Amino acid sequence: MTDIEPLINAIHQQYGYDLRDYARASLIRRLSLAMKKERLRDFNEFQDRLLHSPAFFYRLLGVLSVNVSAMFRDPDFYLALRRQVIPLLRTWPFIRIWHAGCANGEEVYSMAILLKEEGLYERSRIYATDFSELILEQAKQGIYSCKNVQTYIENYRLAGGKEDFSCYYRSDYDRVIIRNELKKNIVFAQHNLVSDGSFNEFNLILCRNVMIYFNNALKDRTLRLLHQSLCRFGVLALGKKESLNGTELGFRYDTLAENERLYRRIGW
Ligand SMILES: C[S@@+](CC[C@H](N)C(=O)[O-])C[C@H]1O[C@@H](n2cnc3c(N)ncnc32)[C@H](O)[C@@H]1O
Repeated sequence: MTDIEPLINAIHQQYGYDLRDYARASLIRRLSLAMKKERLRDFNEFQDRLLHSPAFFYRLLGVLSVNVSAMFRDPDFYLALRRQVIPLLRTWPFIRIWHAGCANGEEVYSMAILLKEEGLYERSRIYATDFSELILEQAKQGIYSCKNVQTYIENYRLAGGKEDFSCYYRSDYDRVIIRNELKKNIVFAQHNLVSDGSFNEFNLILCRNVMIYFNNALKDRTLRLLHQSLCRFGVLALGKKESLNGTELGFRYDTLAENERLYRRIGW
């Protein structure tokens, strides 16, 4: 299956999700996998199912866009946030943070924990957005499998965590539930980086491991949107495989930590 154009157009028309500027090779790979998994015979059956079953479509969206995340994923990144970005955030009386492409919320709750430990949570407001409503629902609930907890604990320790990690959740059979006090300053909302605009001005924006699925045109559009949404001297955090180097906006930023993809806006 290589001609995915009709399918992509049909998704756009029926559901309003524009996947035309997603990296093609990765889209084709994921569509093929989904087709196998759902035991669909061919492309026509796939399209038919997709257009007649919104539930199937929203499930597929999760597969196409990849929702992998983890608490304190890339601990060195959080260590750099703690050491290099928190002191900058302290200089503002009120702090607005945007997680663009927040997936199931693990990145967002890691940020809430970090802010709490640094005494900044009470004067922060975190906006956590994703284009998938399904994944946002999971993010809001903040419920995770206890199978992941050992990884979270280890990541948290390596990221310079100051407390016993278990104080941030309560256990419920085979799940852990994030405590409400970490949720109170977080706003979860749907936002599509392909089609939606800027909605506030932020001191820190994280858009990590999202643009790797975009083609160059969409990466540029997204970077412009993030730039428009970042206040002067605000900080932009990208994923390990994403960089501002060589982009048209790169010269408007100082590099805070290239390995951790942390940049500070200096120019207009
Ligand atoms: C791999 S996850 C990254 C999660 C988290 N930022 C991290 O690094 O752990 C990518 C997320 O981007 C979201 N995403 C993909 N395309 C998007 C778009 N156009 N607008 C907003 N979110 C999008 C997906 O739904 C998915 O939750």
